[in-house]
Amino acid sequence: MTLYFKNNIPFIEGVNLDDLSKTIETPFYVYSQKKIIDSYEHIKNTLNTNIYYALKANSNQAIVTLLKSLGAGADVVSIGEIMRALDAGIKPDKIIFEGVGKSKNDIEFALNKKIKQINVESIEELEMINEIAYSLKMIASIGIRLNPDIDGLTLDKISTGRKKDKFGISFDKINDICALIKNYQNLNIKGISCHIGSQINDPSIYEKVFIKMKKAAEIMEERGLSFNHIDLGGGFGVTYEDEKELNLKTISNLLKKIFNEKYEISFEPGRYLVAKAGILITKILIVKEDDHVNYIITDAGMQTLLRPALYNVKHNIVPFSKNKKSKKYTIAGPICESTDIFLKNFDLPIQSIGNYLAIYDTGAYGFVMASNYNTRNLPTEILINESNHAIIRNKENINEIIKKDIVPTWLKD
Ligand code: LLP
Repeated sequence: MTLYFKNNIPFIEGVNLDDLSKTIETPFYVYSQKKIIDSYEHIKNTLNTNIYYALKANSNQAIVTLLKSLGAGADVVSIGEIMRALDAGIKPDKIIFEGVGKSKNDIEFALNKKIKQINVESIEELEMINEIAYSLKMIASIGIRLNPDIDGLTLDKISTGRKKDKFGISFDKINDICALIKNYQNLNIKGISCHIGSQINDPSIYEKVFIKMKKAAEIMEERGLSFNHIDLGGGFGVTYEDEKELNLKTISNLLKKIFNEKYEISFEPGRYLVAKAGILITKILIVKEDDHVNYIITDAGMQTLLRPALYNVKHNIVPFSKNKKSKKYTIAGPICESTDIFLKNFDLPIQSIGNYLAIYDTGAYGFVMASNYNTRNLPTEILINESNHAIIRNKENINEIIKKDIVPTWLKD
């Protein structure tokens, strides 16, 4: 557990969160360095494959730099993320560029930076990359992202590997793809890839994916292509509520059984590396007791942590103050939207204004999905390392947010 109590005082590693919350304006995200290191080491030692960290889960430069120092490469989806990875010192040959919509500019940028490979998601993109590489007098290293038509049995909104999803190239097009790649002069195929979705906890789904990807590799090799990299995406689930914990050892056994060390295998985890390391600290603005519902309204809301409002998922909430009597509360943010609710009818020790709550497992897809909705500023982020803490991103200044807008001269007096 990232957060623990010692004599009723909340701690992350050696840092007293009660004290920290009095000096840092809430809401703020706080991450445990040790937890990130432990998660990385666990994946690395159990799977024994290359790891490309999916920056989209948490792209703070300190977190990217930490993962780089552990040996991770980067899985990126924009010029911004390529820049972040390079800035953190990740070598271009450890960067894989993904994404279903890449502009000409994105592709040129990636080619000029000489990254490891661009994963291609359509026949049209394949043609586009070949043309751009030709015009730059370069050979583009590519991977083919396949859509294996396998349901990850996760939330519909984060499923990406079914035929109906917008991602990847359908298996029906493998023959066409092979013919085109052989024909295009400015492409060099390095491998194939897939990613069927996020928050997958059942190893048997990975088994189906591995079998299908191996089959695809064999077919493509029979069609005359040669490559040695199979990138199996991210998606490793964590336990937010009562999910069954994903056993990475089972995944490792499946890898050995199915691929038999024939290929360079890699994964692109995001969530698994950072989700459990992060806690969102929020202050209670008001406790509003109604006939039928007791509301706790916090200063964090869907502008700080969007996942509950967007996906209807739950993050556990633990109060700093442990009053013995408890009550059922609905815990909600301050935003003017009825969907801005974290938990409904949730048992908490009795709370009052000014108390702090810790929202659990928010290290992945937390800060990165925060917004300025209702002109609220993006929160502070803090990294804890043993008994030290460092601010790794300052809270945004509201004046600066307003100053970004431009009022045209004709509207000024
Ligand atoms: N590779 C690709 C191509 C991806 O699209 C993703 C995530 C990953 C790797 C990393 O997946 P992970 O290991 O983190 O599951 N906002 C959602 C999650 C969206 C994931 C998008 N793609 C959430 O809050 O649950």
